Amino acid sequence: MPRSMEQESLLAWFTQHQRDLPWRRLDDAWPILLSEILLQQTQVSRGVIFWQRLFERYPTVQSMAESTEEEVLFLWQGAGYYSRARRLFQLSKVVCAPSSAGGFDGDLPTSAEQLQTLPGVGPYTAAAVASIAHGEAIACVDGNVIRVMARQNGIKEPTGREVQRWADEVLWSDDPGNWNQAVMELGATICTPKSPRCDVCPVKQTCLGVEHADLYPAPKKRKKKRVDLQCVIYIDSKGRPELEMRDASGILAGMWGPKLVEHVNAEGLGYLGEVHHVLSHRDMHVKVWCGVAEKGVDPATVPLSSLDVKLLKLAGVMRD
Ligand code: ADE
Repeated sequence: MPRSMEQESLLAWFTQHQRDLPWRRLDDAWPILLSEILLQQTQVSRGVIFWQRLFERYPTVQSMAESTEEEVLFLWQGAGYYSRARRLFQLSKVVCAPSSAGGFDGDLPTSAEQLQTLPGVGPYTAAAVASIAHGEAIACVDGNVIRVMARQNGIKEPTGREVQRWADEVLWSDDPGNWNQAVMELGATICTPKSPRCDVCPVKQTCLGVEHADLYPAPKKRKKKRVDLQCVIYIDSKGRPELEMRDASGILAGMWGPKLVEHVNAEGLGYLGEVHHVLSHRDMHVKVWCGVAEKGVDPATVPLSSLDVKLLKLAGVMRD
């Protein structure tokens, strides 16, 4: 199919200006899946570091399936949204299970439809992997695509259906992997949420939002929920804190740390101060006390979230 002028212009721009990301030099679906799962909620500069760490340890889906959830979480420390790590580990197990038991005999499925049946893989990730690794003609919709669509069409609050229709319509189906990445790359580097660079945009000719980009899409008034918690860090005679693995629900599931509660009985305990930690939907405030433990654990040997690292640093039981 012949490309339209705008498609030509965007693809030419992508060929010339795309960021040099390590998974772009690979065509295997596993490293591409890993990158897409990481980039969902982690910015690219940090995503690259975590991708390198994970891909070095897990070059194949089999190598992850033979590992443990705890080790995957350990390598995921600091990347946040740890349920992604636990689901990815479950995914590796499902993929490597025999087909007689509902698995895929060690081969990642290739179609977006089948990819979506795997743990942690939603419509976006399935479309990204199927188009980039296998050339399936399916459009990706992520936050970047929503913003580009809203500005191109001058729509303040496009519905999910409208964005999907636009993405399907503009998809260049001869090379859907490059096309999807080009639209996302445009959103990530030119058509950015703040101070977009309309002057150098390769598709400004067709853009109804050009020079008024801040109007589109209308900013969502999403107020972070304030969460107040308390904890006691019990420390043993060797300076090691008592830590527990958090149970299967909640954002820190599977990670280790001091027990977080709504209220501490602070009698006889030393108050250390308050830790503030901002997550995408939550504004966490944790008051910290210290006490005496029988036997703690070495914090370097268990997976810790960034919040836990802050708590343990405040208690002086962890260094950089
Ligand atoms: N953001 C998430 N995935 C991306 C990709 N493959 N290319 C550009 N930006 C992205």
